[in-house]
Amino acid sequence: MPFSRIAGTGGYLPPQIVTNQDLERLVDTTDDWIVERTGIRQRHIAKAECASDLALPAAQRALEMAGRRADEVDLIVMGTSTPDLVFPSTACRLQHKLGISQCAALDVNAACSGFVYALSVADSFIRSGTYQCVLVVGSEVMSRLMDWSDRTTCVLFGDGAGAMLLEASTEPGIFSTHIHSDAAYEELLYVSGGVSCAVDPAAQHGAFLRMKGNEVFRFAVNTLGRIVDETLEANGMRREDIDWLVPHQANIRIIQATARKLRLPMENVVLTVERHGNTSSASIPLALDEAVRDGRIRRGDNILMEAFGGGFTWGSALARF
Ligand code: UT7
Repeated sequence: MPFSRIAGTGGYLPPQIVTNQDLERLVDTTDDWIVERTGIRQRHIAKAECASDLALPAAQRALEMAGRRADEVDLIVMGTSTPDLVFPSTACRLQHKLGISQCAALDVNAACSGFVYALSVADSFIRSGTYQCVLVVGSEVMSRLMDWSDRTTCVLFGDGAGAMLLEASTEPGIFSTHIHSDAAYEELLYVSGGVSCAVDPAAQHGAFLRMKGNEVFRFAVNTLGRIVDETLEANGMRREDIDWLVPHQANIRIIQATARKLRLPMENVVLTVERHGNTSSASIPLALDEAVRDGRIRRGDNILMEAFGGGFTWGSALARF
């Protein structure tokens, strides 16, 4: 059975930066509060770009690192909860922007766990022998879901895209992926409007992300602790076997709790939350790409990726780079 090997990574952030000081002028908040509670100092915010626009340069960079042409891609899997349109899917629109046709393209919506879910889908297609070259992307324009008068959410999120090019290989690659969901906690984290359902009156004025942050926080810390154990156990590995934690970047305190669980020093945790904020399904591939390109993550290193998000959804992936 073939494995998926990470042949290339790429990332892209829209150029406009919004600092905590900028947000102090918008809502009743302070730089000190945001930094202390979340670790975030700034975030990138898209202007007119949509998710497929952000995904394009990220995908091109991943292809370039892998030494692959776009027309060699068999499948595009896009993790996004901020799609360009309901359909065509954002993956289809990215395919068109890459100048290719014919290959399969689909979106996966698992909120902030979207990249881990997309990776799991891509890995399954490679392991089954169906496809040999798969582009996995996480791309989000979270700023479009923000209620810019709600200080409890608008300071947390940012926009961006990250990509990974997977190839079939005789060696791992991806050791395993683990994905879960439980919708019993919907009222703690949801978007207020959609297409066939609107769950609160604000939906009449647009769709906004709503979150009871402190309750989500507690759930996320416990759940991510459990998924670390599940992932190590599934692969017969110990904590010491992990070289790098590449977590979803929602909150520095959640990340620190997972690192403590792994007994991993923070130097071995890839952090972007300070500069990117929470870019939902883009955060893991953006962080991975940064650490690969600056030489921290090297071929042969074992990396644990994990995420928690709306749904609730959560998941992990253990890979050898
Ligand atoms: O990625 C998807 C999953 N999402 C997450 O993982 C996010 C999880 N949650 C969190 O990261 C944190 O819970 C937050 C950063 C959202 C909030 O931090 P917290 O330490 O849990 O604060 P809190 O919600 O308990 O609020 C504490 C206080 C409240 O005031 P009172 O009621 O104590 O007077 C809030 O109204 O902080 C207030 N507050 C703010 N103050 C200044 C909430 N937002 C702000 C703000 N600026 N932006």
